[in-house]
Amino acid sequence: MNEFYFEIPEIKISKALKNLHNTTNDHSWNNYGSRLFDRSFIPGANPTPVHKVYMQFKNIDLLGRASLLLVKPGGVVEPHIDAFRQGAINIPLSENWKKSYTVFYKAQGWRRLYKKPNIYFEKGKPPVLNPGGAYPLAKEVTRLQYNKAVCINTAKIHGVINESDEDRYVLSISIRVPHTFEELRQAYQSGKLI
Ligand SMILES: [Fe+2]
Repeated sequence: MNEFYFEIPEIKISKALKNLHNTTNDHSWNNYGSRLFDRSFIPGANPTPVHKVYMQFKNIDLLGRASLLLVKPGGVVEPHIDAFRQGAINIPLSENWKKSYTVFYKAQGWRRLYKKPNIYFEKGKPPVLNPGGAYPLAKEVTRLQYNKAVCINTAKIHGVINESDEDRYVLSISIRVPHTFEELRQAYQSGKLI
């Protein structure tokens, strides 16, 4: 049992999806990390290939929105816990993953809190609380290279290192607040997700 991720090899990755970044332009991207290497984009302009991903699921109640994430060659997303989500299904859209990693860490040293706290509220339920923020000195536990879809636990400390010479594109579908990585894993293992 892996507390950091599990694979979802059933998810089909179309050519149109791999080509999604070509339908964007520089002005439609936002920075999502603390560095200029990291960009995210909400694919509203050309949603069809993204909708076709959602249509592969039996149950999309556990899923939130999708964004296209870019880490440039040499780019690093520092160790952090996501704000506003407990996990994500990440679908690799680039070809070269030999030197491109999602890295998981254990906490060490000081933590920088995000401006947005990682607290979820759902009507009629107690708040779900997470120690969101960046951990610049965290210690590496394991690193993951993937060429198929994976569900990652973004409530654990994680980051990205792109040591390849190619742009790294990932379609990242958030687990819908306030659902958790473990709920998604259970749904997957019991055949209720896909
Ligand atoms: Fe993250």
